[in-house]
Amino acid sequence: MPESMAPPDDLERRARATLPPDVHAYYAAGAGDEISRHEATAAWRSWRLLPRVLRDVSTVTTGIDLLGAALTAPVAAAPTALHTLAHPDGEIATAEGVAAAGSLLILSARSGHRLETVAAAAGPWWYQVYVQRDRAGTAEQVQRAAAAGARALVLTADAPYVYPRAGVVGALPVVGEQAGEVTPGHRPAAREQDPAATFAAIGWLTALSGLPVLVKGVLHPADAVACADAGAAGVIVSNHGGRQLDRAVPAAHALRPVVEAVAGRVPVLADGGIRDGLDVLTALALGARAVLIGRPVLWSLATGGAAGVTQCFDTYREGLRRAMSLAGVRSPAEVTADLLRPARCP
Ligand code: FNR
Repeated sequence: MPESMAPPDDLERRARATLPPDVHAYYAAGAGDEISRHEATAAWRSWRLLPRVLRDVSTVTTGIDLLGAALTAPVAAAPTALHTLAHPDGEIATAEGVAAAGSLLILSARSGHRLETVAAAAGPWWYQVYVQRDRAGTAEQVQRAAAAGARALVLTADAPYVYPRAGVVGALPVVGEQAGEVTPGHRPAAREQDPAATFAAIGWLTALSGLPVLVKGVLHPADAVACADAGAAGVIVSNHGGRQLDRAVPAAHALRPVVEAVAGRVPVLADGGIRDGLDVLTALALGARAVLIGRPVLWSLATGGAAGVTQCFDTYREGLRRAMSLAGVRSPAEVTADLLRPARCP
């Protein structure tokens, strides 16, 4: 029964007990004073639901179509680096676990395993890229991802430089082909993100790969519009789990203005601090087509391998289904903005 998965705080506690302290710190860390990291979940929970009644919720479906991929719920795996630090099978186990849950994997450019190996274990998957200083290397990587079956690219735009944070120490084992984020000092400079990247990268990546390109790390509505104008197939409202610009606004506050500015031209996704089905429902009501989860997948992988990852997604799906039933909505398409009110706590 999915409910057997530990609640998120508990899940992190259990993962913390099994992971080397440096690895836990690397996964958990936010940037700076960690203000953005700490307020992410609370921001989703600053909204209150205005449920509908007598709607025949005997059948509730959580499934969606996301750029042609049929998902059992609007919850996908965010790109996160170096799953091999959490589990020996790393991204291979994550890919299997996500596929078994009927979800979507976004594979990080900083994967611990070769992307072709992960692709062989995956269901539908997208590939996350940075524009690296080495453009030829970036092009090669993107073309490999397309050849291996990635259905879309996710251009991460909020990390022109990697913010130094806890756990980013040279002592961590460097594994895989792209193990760069953990030990920036040891990564070839050509592999680093190019801070000169602009919106032109969207068209460049689209032309190179023949794939739809979504842009991740968008918070300002005008940037979301610029992405759509530049040919992006979607935007992901995110502050990188609070790991880049500390005090960047939470996704829960940035989402609705972005959705309004984009006005349905492209799907809008969101991530950061989504920890249960109610958070997912809130994001949908703010206009997200789907959400991504980062750290909960890593904690689940560390404690339960592929089966743990599947259970994590099952728990979100069941939590969402229950929340939808009680809110009187039968499908994600029925979730509308009037389901929410700002909280007015005493
Ligand atoms: C990340 N994130 C990230 N994003 C990205 O585009 N490429 C990457 O390689 C990584 N790596 C990464 C490593 C770790 C350990 C974390 C925690 C996060 C950000 C990630 O995709 C996502 O935006 C956040 O993790 C979402 O927040 P939650 O769900 O972790 O709170």
